Amino acid sequence: MSDITSLVSRHDEWRLRECINLQCSENVTSKAVRKILSSDMGHRYTLPINQDVHGSFVENAYRGTRYMDEIEALGEKLAAELFGGKFATVKPLSGHIAAMIMLTAICRKGNRMLVVDARHGGYDGYLPENMAGMFGFKAGFLPFDKRRWNVDSGAAARKIRKEKPRLVVLGASFILFPYDIRPIREAADDVGARLGYDGSHVLGLMAGGEFQKPFEEGVDILVGSTHKSLFGPQGGLVVCRDDSLADDVRKAFYWKVMDNAHWNRIAALTQALSEVKRHGAKYARQVVKNSKALASSLHRGGLELRFPELDFTECHQMHVDERALKADWNLTLDQYAKKLERSNLIVDAVGRIGTNELTRLGGREETTSEIADMILRALKDEDVAREVAALRSNLRMSYC
Ligand SMILES: Cc1ncc(COP(=O)(O)O)c(C=O)c1O
Repeated sequence: MSDITSLVSRHDEWRLRECINLQCSENVTSKAVRKILSSDMGHRYTLPINQDVHGSFVENAYRGTRYMDEIEALGEKLAAELFGGKFATVKPLSGHIAAMIMLTAICRKGNRMLVVDARHGGYDGYLPENMAGMFGFKAGFLPFDKRRWNVDSGAAARKIRKEKPRLVVLGASFILFPYDIRPIREAADDVGARLGYDGSHVLGLMAGGEFQKPFEEGVDILVGSTHKSLFGPQGGLVVCRDDSLADDVRKAFYWKVMDNAHWNRIAALTQALSEVKRHGAKYARQVVKNSKALASSLHRGGLELRFPELDFTECHQMHVDERALKADWNLTLDQYAKKLERSNLIVDAVGRIGTNELTRLGGREETTSEIADMILRALKDEDVAREVAALRSNLRMSYC
């Protein structure tokens, strides 16, 4: 075996057989999805144009594309249907690129947008020093109520009416509770702003009818990653409530934000979306139940989590209380994550714990109490790696 294949095998053996992954940004795909990812479509292009290019008509710039085109159309249909939108594209290579497509489809240089501040869990990509600044958009922040870990809708509506942004973006990387969207929608209507939602973290819940229904509640455009609570391959998607933004979204990607869309990924995503269509509601319900169960077991056992008074969470994430971690365990978030990794319990080093992958692997509330116990013992310096591997070997890919 070459060094590379041996490193990959060692990674797979460790992460898929010995570890329990509780990182809320990750998930695992079905066997069918993984098989499609390695198909010939990963070598090919398709570029339907259906118009004159430099003086002569071109239907598609590439030939041999019939099956890829059919699959992409099916992926778009499924994505629109699952989220209740009219138009969807599965082309974005990642959630970040989906966000970039939303921004550049709607805003022009100098336009103002309001987003969730990174200090309140918002995605760093929208910050003035990142994507917003790169395109010359002016990013301001939505008022936030830290006690409810949520956008303050009333204050946000007032700010929207005052500042008249071109775009308002809900959604965050550290997200726990649904937003109160209607007052924000009404204010956006008053000033002619578009309302976007970066659902990178919660798309899998939304597709299963949990968390919130962005289009019914007034969102114009939903973007996100396809591999966090949604259990697709790594990638992104954009869904619009109606056709009014469809052309702008289409124009925003070709030869601007991207060209090649990786059609093996698109086919794999389409397969994952068909799994979501069949089993997504049960999965999403179980994710939320597992989060609440894991959070309360951990909190009861002495690992303080934030917002116990709000039942901790309504999604796949829960947040470790950083100050209590220091006071009670004398650990920083980085030290806590490294300590758990020694026992093959994988959590991120920024204080989020996620139940999405565990649920995908068939974990239920009973499983979460076993895991909470292992986490608490690992934090007390017990080596629980064998128990983690034994529990892992009892988990099976589900909802596919
Ligand atoms: C809210 C949010 N949007 C966008 C992204 C970027 O997604 P991706 O990693 O798929 O590019 C992230 C990443 O974690 C995120 O949390």
